Amino acid sequence: MMNPPFSSVDRRALLALGVGGLTLGLSPAFAQTSGGTKPKIATIGAGRQGGALGTLFAKAGYQVMFSALDPDALKDLVAAAGPNTQAGTTAQAVAFGDVVLIAVPYSAMEQIGRDFGSGLATKQLVLDISNPIGGRDGADLVKKINDEGGAGLATARILPGAHIVRAFNAINYAALPRAAHRSGTPLGVPIAGDDPKAVALATALIKDIGFEAVVVGGLANGKYLVPGTPLAGEHTPDELRKIAAGLS
Ligand SMILES: NC(=O)c1ccc[n+]([C@@H]2O[C@H](COP(=O)([O-])OP(=O)(O)OC[C@H]3O[C@@H](n4cnc5c(N)ncnc54)[C@H](OP(=O)(O)O)[C@@H]3O)[C@@H](O)[C@H]2O)c1
Repeated sequence: MMNPPFSSVDRRALLALGVGGLTLGLSPAFAQTSGGTKPKIATIGAGRQGGALGTLFAKAGYQVMFSALDPDALKDLVAAAGPNTQAGTTAQAVAFGDVVLIAVPYSAMEQIGRDFGSGLATKQLVLDISNPIGGRDGADLVKKINDEGGAGLATARILPGAHIVRAFNAINYAALPRAAHRSGTPLGVPIAGDDPKAVALATALIKDIGFEAVVVGGLANGKYLVPGTPLAGEHTPDELRKIAAGLS
């Protein structure tokens, strides 16, 4: 089965990443590792957003390991998400996943980078869901991240060598289960990343759990993937493309 054609905004963004038409044509119709198997998914953080996304991956047939500071507190989540899931420590999750979702308060990112950055740099994809939020992480941290060019570039500094794609940053966790695989036009998910293979894998994974990824640019555009920006909230893919085309 062929992938749907990329829009002009997606195509421009991907071309800027160095992904030509030939590579697009060869991108997998379903998410797979470079070895051709279904990637194992790990979450660092299994609260509202990490729990909701990991559950969607488990229901789509992926093996998922949820992790949190207290993995014993994840028993109910694992029971609800079903037999494809298990809970572990952050170290176990980093060892387990081919793809790692990070869904933690942004103030935890530096520690995660220090303790797990070398492991995360070996992964095919790190999906960065996390946002710096003043009310939770502190105004000083938000200013520091903004001074660095926003959350995309800051995550790249914190996780050197990792294949990072920002995604699902400003779609509320409660909307995810009802919006996944909705009938008609899928819900659009704006994504930003610098690594073409990671962007292609993220696009395929997002499709597998029932959404349509819209590439809005490289990690420098990750600053738009936070709550309170025009891309935030629930939009169709076409709406996202129009909004993205108007971003400077
Ligand atoms: N909630 C949403 O609708 C939503 C939407 C888009 C993006 N986001 C972003 O996603 C991130 C998570 O939000 P959330 O609402 O899911 O938060 P949450 O419900 O409070 O969950 C946070 C999770 O992070 C874990 N955690 C905290 N510090 C950690 C560390 N140092 N190492 C490993 N795990 C750690 C927590 O583990 P313990 O419980 O064991 O402490 C918990 O599992 C935030 O950056 C948020 O801005 C959230």
